[in-house]
Amino acid sequence: MHLLCSFVFALASVRLALGSLPGKIYGVNLGSWLVLEAWMLPAEWEAMGGQSCADCTSCIATESAFATAYPNTVDEEFAKHWSTWFTQDHVNQLKAAGINTVRVPLGYWIVEALVDRPAEAYPRGGIKFLSQGLQWLRDADMRVILDHHALPGVQTPGQMFTGNCTSDVQFYTPYNYGRALTWTAVMTALSHIHPNFASVFALEAINEPIMDASMTPGYGTFQQNFVKTVRAMELLLGIPISGFTLDLPEPLSSLNLTSAFSMASASDKTGLFSAEVTQAIQSAIPILLGMEVDLGLSDILNLGLLQSHGGGWEPLTTNFMDINWQYDNPSNPASAAIGPQGYDNHLYYSSCLQGVADANPDAYMQSTCNLDRVQNDAALGNSPLWFGEWALPTQFNATDDFLFMWADAQKLAYSQGAGWLYWNFKVETSDAAGDLGRQWQRTFTRSYLEGLARGYLTQDPSAVHNPHVCDPYKTNSTGSSRK
Ligand SMILES: *[C@@H]1O[C@H](CO)[C@@H](O)[C@H](O)[C@H]1NC(C)=O
Ligand SMILES: *[C@@H]1O[C@H](CO)[C@@H](O)[C@H](O)[C@H]1NC(C)=O
Ligand SMILES: *[C@@H]1O[C@H](CO)[C@@H](O)[C@H](O)[C@H]1NC(C)=O
Ligand SMILES: *[C@@H]1O[C@H](CO)[C@@H](O)[C@H](O)[C@H]1NC(C)=O
Repeated sequence: MHLLCSFVFALASVRLALGSLPGKIYGVNLGSWLVLEAWMLPAEWEAMGGQSCADCTSCIATESAFATAYPNTVDEEFAKHWSTWFTQDHVNQLKAAGINTVRVPLGYWIVEALVDRPAEAYPRGGIKFLSQGLQWLRDADMRVILDHHALPGVQTPGQMFTGNCTSDVQFYTPYNYGRALTWTAVMTALSHIHPNFASVFALEAINEPIMDASMTPGYGTFQQNFVKTVRAMELLLGIPISGFTLDLPEPLSSLNLTSAFSMASASDKTGLFSAEVTQAIQSAIPILLGMEVDLGLSDILNLGLLQSHGGGWEPLTTNFMDINWQYDNPSNPASAAIGPQGYDNHLYYSSCLQGVADANPDAYMQSTCNLDRVQNDAALGNSPLWFGEWALPTQFNATDDFLFMWADAQKLAYSQGAGWLYWNFKVETSDAAGDLGRQWQRTFTRSYLEGLARGYLTQDPSAVHNPHVCDPYKTNSTGSSRK
């Protein structure tokens, strides 16, 4: 806790957002930090008082089940986890390994005012740890994607990564879309106002919605409101958005966020302030005020102070799972774009949901070496595309030789797009996590740092062991040429 004593930042010390996308993303996820997934740290989870079970609805397998079971100690237990799972030392290791970007999975509950207690139970206090971690990342000059990973009402059934393992999916409703937009408004403002957030360049709307688009009613409208919320908040903070002006009766520098917002929404000339966006920003303002103390900020709404140190601000990159994540008439996130936008695809060959290739080494190599997702997405306007989650788990007992080849092949494939982020930066090393075997269940294939230590992953993330690894696997019909 000693690292978290709050400093009051003079606004003069605000470091402006580093802005845009790195030339190529070589990244990792900071999974299981602020959204804990017990399978990645089974020994620690059990020591905390958690449980593991085949059906995660039936035991203490998630953050909400834990918070329900241990209402008096949950905050303390999670503070311990947050301060040890990801540290300055990890930032140093990742920096030394050439990692230039991290994706930070977050739950809606990190904005505590959004949690409907007591029906919803989650640990409190994560925001200070987020702020501290972002400061380390900023100081190491690493870019950050804030990823809304676990949504209010739960966005997909039976998954620990939603924080609440349940079959009762309630995210795709006006109420929970609304809470997600308020979260978005808060994170947009913090990304521009708070000096620790200066290396945040992208905000991801929702991690892995249900793949069948017929089961996600209203998702396309939510995508549009997500982008409008980000851009409306940015305009209110004085960040230029090409093609839009607020045109207020007074200059922003003489206003606070509350007054600018009421003028802008009362006579909207931008078309950004839909009913949903207006509601989200209205809800976000008191939440931001309530965060001043925890985040060591003062006069957070004073636009004059912000303006006097502003200039050169970049809008955030809005970020969605790509259109190919869903089937059954999906909405195209490209149609929601205003300003910079990026697209995210996740690829796990071991996932039964994705069913990517037959369970043998040749089929995996053939599939990876002929991957056409970057081109297919680009044809639908989903560009730039990065692979925000991938790793080396297999459905068969992989040899070392295979893992060397397949790591190369995946990096080559994903680098045809904007780059990649490995899931995860680390996993627990313990007998319970089973780092002794090599089957896909073995968690070590999910650890970037372990992959580096074992040599599957190259010390320079832009390098591969063998640039010709795909030569024998390329089919001739695609006509794609090798670099
Ligand atoms: C888990 O999700 C279900 C369905 O959305 C909800 O009824 C329940 O209150 C949630 N539990 C917690 C602890 O948030
Ligand atoms: C914002 O400005 C208005 C108008 O000057 C003022 O009434 C209000 O108290 C201010 N709000 C805050 C939170 O400073
Ligand atoms: C993988 O190897 C382990 C250990 O040698 C063995 O127990 C297991 O049956 C093998 N699995 C497959 C699918 O071959
Ligand atoms: C592709 O073409 C080369 C040369 O024509 C041939 O040797 C190879 O077998 C072909 N590969 C496949 C997968 O058909």
